[in-house]
Amino acid sequence: MRTTNHQIRNKANRIPKKGIFITGTDTGVGKTYVACSLAYLLRSRGINVGVMKPFATGTGIYSQKFRSEDTANLARAANVSENDDEINPTFFPIAASPFMASVITKGKVSLKNNLDAFRRLKEKHDFILVEGLGGIMVPLTSAHVLADFVKLINLSVIIVTSVKLGSINHVLLTVAACEKYGLPVSGIVINRMPSNPTEVQTMTPVFLQKLTDLPVIAIMPEQRTPRFESGSIYFEKWPELYGPPINHTC
Ligand SMILES: Nc1ncnc2c1ncn2[C@@H]1O[C@H](COP(=O)(O)OP(=O)(O)OP(=O)(O)O)[C@@H](O)[C@H]1O
Ligand SMILES: [Mg+2]
Repeated sequence: MRTTNHQIRNKANRIPKKGIFITGTDTGVGKTYVACSLAYLLRSRGINVGVMKPFATGTGIYSQKFRSEDTANLARAANVSENDDEINPTFFPIAASPFMASVITKGKVSLKNNLDAFRRLKEKHDFILVEGLGGIMVPLTSAHVLADFVKLINLSVIIVTSVKLGSINHVLLTVAACEKYGLPVSGIVINRMPSNPTEVQTMTPVFLQKLTDLPVIAIMPEQRTPRFESGSIYFEKWPELYGPPINHTC
């Protein structure tokens, strides 16, 4: 079952250098929650962290300042001062892929604009967290999917998933797509683990690790009020993120 692309499996390749791309196995799986938790953790460690939501779509405009709620949350978690356009160059007020939304609205999606915006943010910050939308194969244009953009920005990927039935299949498909596009995967984040998990839910992270040969970076519980301050603690022992854990006891 294990894939054998050694270059992508190579651990050195997986270590995030100047940033991370956060993808997921589905929309609503917890990408923003994970990205905000990581942004908060990094900035609370004194790291100048930037955030980006290159492509966002949604049912409407979120606020006067930010068209997308994700952009607003990311900016708040990282405490950055960039404006909406800088963090989120491409927005459509239609809940669809950027490609379909652009066809419906007769708008345009430019990977180059987003790449330029990413480069500007990279100049200003020491570490960049970039949130995708939906999953890794979301169509951006008739010729490009999200994975093409991740290849351009050259970041390693983390995959956010859940323990619901079907997640293993979705993670394996996501990993296979990352391999196809040559994207190094740093690891998997399990979100919304129930407080009383079934045996199958408990075993899902173990099976994911075995089947993908990737680390499960964090298991985040189902929370009544998911706040990034409390979410950040689940990443404190991910040494590849910013060096060895501060309270290293083991
Ligand atoms: N661990 C958690 N416990 C409880 N609720 C959660 C948890 N993680 C995320 N949520 C909630 O689930 C919803 C979707 O989460 P989030 O917005 O992070 O998903 P997403 O993958 O970023 O979605 P999108 O594809 O729209 O960007 C939000 O209302 C969020 O507050
Ligand atoms: Mg989101």
